[in-house]
Formats: sequence, C-alpha cells, structure tokens
Amino acid sequence: MTEVDLKGVLAIERFSFPIPWNEEMFKSELYLDFAHNFTGKLNSNGNGDILVGYICSWLFHGEAHILNIAVHPDYRRMGLGTYLMRFFCDFCLTMKVKTITLDVRSSNHPAIKMYRKMGFRKLGLRPHYYANNGEDALIMGLKLNGR
Ligand SMILES: CC(C)(COP(=O)(O)OP(=O)(O)OC[C@H]1O[C@@H](n2cnc3c(N)ncnc32)[C@H](O)[C@@H]1OP(=O)(O)O)[C@@H](O)C(=O)NCCC(=O)NCCS
Repeated sequence: MTEVDLKGVLAIERFSFPIPWNEEMFKSELYLDFAHNFTGKLNSNGNGDILVGYICSWLFHGEAHILNIAVHPDYRRMGLGTYLMRFFCDFCLTMKVKTITLDVRSSNHPAIKMYRKMGFRKLGLRPHYYANNGEDALIMGLKLNGR
C-alpha cells in the first residue's frame, strides 16, 4: 500500500466499518517501520487495476497483529479475503513470525467464520471494547509453526 492507493482504500474502509479509519490514520501506518500494509488489485479486463481489498499489520518480536482487513463490498464472497489472508500468512512465514493475532467485533460473523476456516482460534475477549456500541472484541490467534 502506498499513498496512491489511499483513495481506493478509504472508499472500501467507509463501506466496511462503523468507525472507519481516516486518511491520516492510514498515512501514519505507511511510515511506521514495523507496519506492513498490502493491497489486493484485480486486472480482469485489461483496463487497469481495481483495488479490491487491503490488509494492515504490525510485526514485532516474532508476532504479527492484523489491524485492518477489508474487501470491496462488490467483490466479497469470491475468496479474496481468504486470498489476502493466505498471502499475509505466507509473508509472515518469510518474516519468521510465529503467531498472528487480531481483534474482531463479536457480531462480525462473516469475518469470524473466515478466520476460523483459516485456523484462527479464540484467545480471549476485550469486554465493551468498541466505542460506538460497547460491543466486545474477540481476540483471535493463529500459530504458524503448526501449519
Ligand atoms: C471479512 C471480509 C474481509 C471477508 O472477505 P471475503 O472476500 O468476502 O471473504 P471470502 O470470500 O474469502 O470468504 C471466506 C469465508 O468466510 C465466510 N464468509 C465470508 N463472508 C460471509 C458472509 N457474509 N456470511 C457468512 N460467511 C461469510 C465464509 O465461510 C467464506 O467461505 P465460503 O464463501 O466458501 O462459504 C469481508 O466480509 C469484509 O471486508 N468485511 C468488512 C470488513 C471487516 O469486517 N473486516 C474484518 C475486521 S476484523
């Protein structure tokens, strides 16, 4: 992900989350040493790339934390979320990461289902974590050395 991608990223972000990140939040991620941010692009008809998803993460001390992942609403249920996650797991393996963690709203069944299918398991709970509705966050994790 670079600054050029931010228009497309922000459009997806605003469709995807009740408390979306703003441009400054994405920009600050782009310049952190320990942040790794990727976009997924399609070029199906030769008319240029369409930005269809992204993933933002932090890596430190053999651990990765996924801060954000989303797929454009028009391109969901086509395997792209799984593709982004698999790409990210492969990237983590090359970076010698042992564990990936993430937080997810307890009501976000599509995302929880995708993570479970990929082998993520519940590690804990952050009660009343989300400011807009007081919803709990599930903490989920995946050990990569067991894959
Ligand atoms: C979560 C998200 C990234 C999934 O992306 P996607 O490209 O639609 O995911 P995939 O097509 O790879 O789906 C993988 C599996 O997840 C589950 N899943 C995905 N969307 C689902 C839905 N709406 N309802 C039920 N299960 C769903 C299914 O098990 C699916 O496999 P299947 O299609 O073979 O049944 C996407 O829904 C999204 O961007 N949501 C908004 C942002 C968000 O919630 N991000 C996660 C923050 S923690």
